[in-house]
Amino acid sequence: MTWGRRWYAGALAVALLLGGCTGGDPRFRPGAADAGDPYVPGAGNGGYDVGHYALTLRYDPADDRLTGQATVTATATAGLSRFHLDLAGLTVDRVRVDGAPAKHRRDGAELVVTPAQGLPAGKRFTVEVAYGGVPQPQPLPSAELGDGGFHATPDGAIALGQPESASTWFPVNDHPSDKATYDLAVTVPDGLAALSNGVPKGTESRAGWTTWRWSEGSPMASYLTTLVIGNYRVSTGTHAGKPLVTAVAAALPADGPAATSVARTGEVADFLAGRFGPYPFEAYGGIVVADERIRYALETQTRPVYGPGFFRGGRPNTEVVAHELAHQWFGDSVSLARWSDIWLNEGFATYAEWLWAEHDGGRSVAQTFDTVYAATDWTRPSVDPGRAGMFGDAVYQRGALAVHALRRAVGDETFFRIVRGWLAERRNGTATTADFVGYAERVADHPLRPLLDAWLVGATAPTLP
Ligand code: TRP
Ligand code: ZN
Repeated sequence: MTWGRRWYAGALAVALLLGGCTGGDPRFRPGAADAGDPYVPGAGNGGYDVGHYALTLRYDPADDRLTGQATVTATATAGLSRFHLDLAGLTVDRVRVDGAPAKHRRDGAELVVTPAQGLPAGKRFTVEVAYGGVPQPQPLPSAELGDGGFHATPDGAIALGQPESASTWFPVNDHPSDKATYDLAVTVPDGLAALSNGVPKGTESRAGWTTWRWSEGSPMASYLTTLVIGNYRVSTGTHAGKPLVTAVAAALPADGPAATSVARTGEVADFLAGRFGPYPFEAYGGIVVADERIRYALETQTRPVYGPGFFRGGRPNTEVVAHELAHQWFGDSVSLARWSDIWLNEGFATYAEWLWAEHDGGRSVAQTFDTVYAATDWTRPSVDPGRAGMFGDAVYQRGALAVHALRRAVGDETFFRIVRGWLAERRNGTATTADFVGYAERVADHPLRPLLDAWLVGATAPTLP
């Protein structure tokens, strides 16, 4: 051994010793317990980036028990001595990291995993979690929305909710800033459907149970996952060369307004593609549930879920279909880096409703604009509306007013160039309001920040350009 090497070995020994005093090898530190997003304290985690979730689940509506095996493939973004996954309720039986048993403990809705060896920054690793139990719903940001997360129903279950829901049924990095691809195999009693996101990969039956397989190959934010189990009329076809799967709860009439509205999914998607550019995913669809506790619709990726309330009164409702399908571009393909920018999702999805209504023989965009403008409370901001304001009019309606004001300021040709270019450039990624404003200014070659500030956050009514 040379002197140099001896010096190195000595220094390493001292470093390890010092590290030992402060709790371990200094190359490895615990990953953060959340993503640091104040709208969702505790949600998400630090120190790694998930690439893929492979979920193998079994659900029995007879006793509401879910049994799961999750394989999470991730890359360490820092040297990790331990790391968190989000998991609300449920019991963890076993955790392996790269095939080796790992220590694990629960801390509220966190699953804390300590691998046998530290994970160096940049390392790809696999976490296998065997878990099970009776999943529970979780409260949404405002009480009127009811609960999100996993709901047991008389015939099955519905897992759905924003800004969080995934952690009620699988271990997850539950923040939209960490998108990943998914494979899901769900086993349910014969005769029930088990619907989820993405491309259908077939079903197979054995001994009274049927396994339904789904694959989402485009990165997906965790709140955009869904699992719907029960008695459904499932229709499987293709649209524009891609699988189209729609499902309507068997409790709803076969040719009622829910069925006729989701039947127009392909037509509405094509209309939006004409405005926004190519449909971003490999499958189309929609699911209408009958459970009255689902008082909302959600843009779950490739396959939005609609509550029964949207289709009451005997009339079809394609505006909600246009809204949820518009989210496939705004929110699903281009996702939020943080929840305070949610107007980027909802403002554009609401504006898409206005565009669709005008196209479908309803009110013109100008008429809708005038009505909404007159009703707007300008003291409430679209950007950073607060957790309780995430789903308020300042986000949806004022956000849409701002989109229209931008269109009027730059003209139709530039406006749709901004929209299409933005969606193409940010496809499968995440973004902030500042990213959008910067992009629009570059395409328009004109400062737009003052205009968008006035429409999004100014405290007084602006004048339409
Ligand atoms: N983002 C949904 C939409 O605009 C609506 C929504 C608001 C929602 N809050 C929710 C959906 C809570 C599920 C849970 O279509
Ligand atoms: Zn929406």
